[in-house]
Amino acid sequence: MANASWVFTPTVPHFNKPMISPLISTFRSRVYPHDRILKRVLCSSAVHGADKVSVSELKASRVVGKGCKLVGCGSAVPKLEVSNDDLSKIVDTSDEWISVRTGIRNRRVITGKDKMTGLAVEAAQKALEMAEVDADDVDLLLLCTSTPDDLFGSAPQIQAALGCKGNPLAFDITAACSGFVLGLVSASCYIRGGGFKNVLVIGADALSRYVDWTDRGTCILFGDAAGAVLVQACESEDDGVFGFDLHSDGEGYRHLHTGIKANEEFGTNGSVVDFPPKRSSYSSIQMNGKEVFRFACRVVPQSIEIALENAGLTRSSIDWLLLHQANQRILDAVATRLEIPADQVISNLANYGNTSAASIPLALDEAVRSGKVKPGQTIATSGFGAGLTWGSAIIRWN
Ligand code: ACO
Repeated sequence: MANASWVFTPTVPHFNKPMISPLISTFRSRVYPHDRILKRVLCSSAVHGADKVSVSELKASRVVGKGCKLVGCGSAVPKLEVSNDDLSKIVDTSDEWISVRTGIRNRRVITGKDKMTGLAVEAAQKALEMAEVDADDVDLLLLCTSTPDDLFGSAPQIQAALGCKGNPLAFDITAACSGFVLGLVSASCYIRGGGFKNVLVIGADALSRYVDWTDRGTCILFGDAAGAVLVQACESEDDGVFGFDLHSDGEGYRHLHTGIKANEEFGTNGSVVDFPPKRSSYSSIQMNGKEVFRFACRVVPQSIEIALENAGLTRSSIDWLLLHQANQRILDAVATRLEIPADQVISNLANYGNTSAASIPLALDEAVRSGKVKPGQTIATSGFGAGLTWGSAIIRWN
């Protein structure tokens, strides 16, 4: 089992060697010790497209921020709404069974030529607008998704669609329903250690493309959406990402996966057995719901407790509990275990179902825009899902 659990300190880590390689591996760092605290790290990344980049242009320096805060959020969902009653027409289920067992009543599903990246771009634009940050000033874009439109990753396409003229580093993070929390923690690490200033973290998924719509055990759960947050460098006193706790356990893979499968219809003509390889595709979502349910109820409260401890906070500091929106019974069980009252639990899964990496930023965006979550409030957030992966972060909104 892999674990990463840490509390952020205002000091900047010492780099002896390049850590990040924005375009053609030109990351550079220099450290200027001052007392025992390292104050400044200068680094550089490309300012033009890959075809135009020159070494001299890679010297634009940035000062490492000591803190980071969430300054904008946005979300987007497809137009098509699919209710429990709609599903009961294609599988043997009912509105009553689904809503009692999961809390879900509706979900949104992409149709026709619509793509996950379209939703991601819309969510990101709204986050930038709220943050009053120009797309040109984004210097890192992290797309948390398990369903990219392109196997090689979709983040650069989003960067291009947003018109980020600086050609910031953009790449995908794959960690299923834990993806957004991992993205958020990654953003804070890039800001604290890498000198990045404006990091766009997008959680977007279209699991409807991988659902077996004849399997009532899974198709009732999932929906498509995108959510985004802009994380910005700030002074340490304004810091808004306090502590985190991250884990993975590959032994649990068997409980939830969408594995690669050889497509049998592509035969082999070569003389070497099993060569050339057959073209592959992915299976539909395979899930042992009961095991995943038990796993979530067991690990999420522990993980939040550890993240709180790392942040130097206690349960009483939490204004809002914002969990991956998988099942209302999981949300209730975790809140009960942590003794957090139901009215402090953010839940919008009735309308959207489980939207994987999008679920946390989607729920955050709704809660912020409706005035529920206010500036300065502390949120305990936690993601969990396939991998198995899980992780928590204690954050402050704006
Ligand atoms: N409608 C009607 N009956 C159903 C349905 C349905 N949609 N689905 C299952 N049933 C039946 C089963 O066949 C079973 O019938 P039986 O007793 O005759 O055998 C009965 O209902 C009970 O089934 P269970 O699977 O035991 O139901 P459970 O209460 O465990 O609920 C559920 C299933 C909702 C999937 C739940 O286990 C769950 O939410 N698990 C967590 C899933 C999750 O959160 N995944 C998140 C990660 S996703 C990611 O990372 C991509």
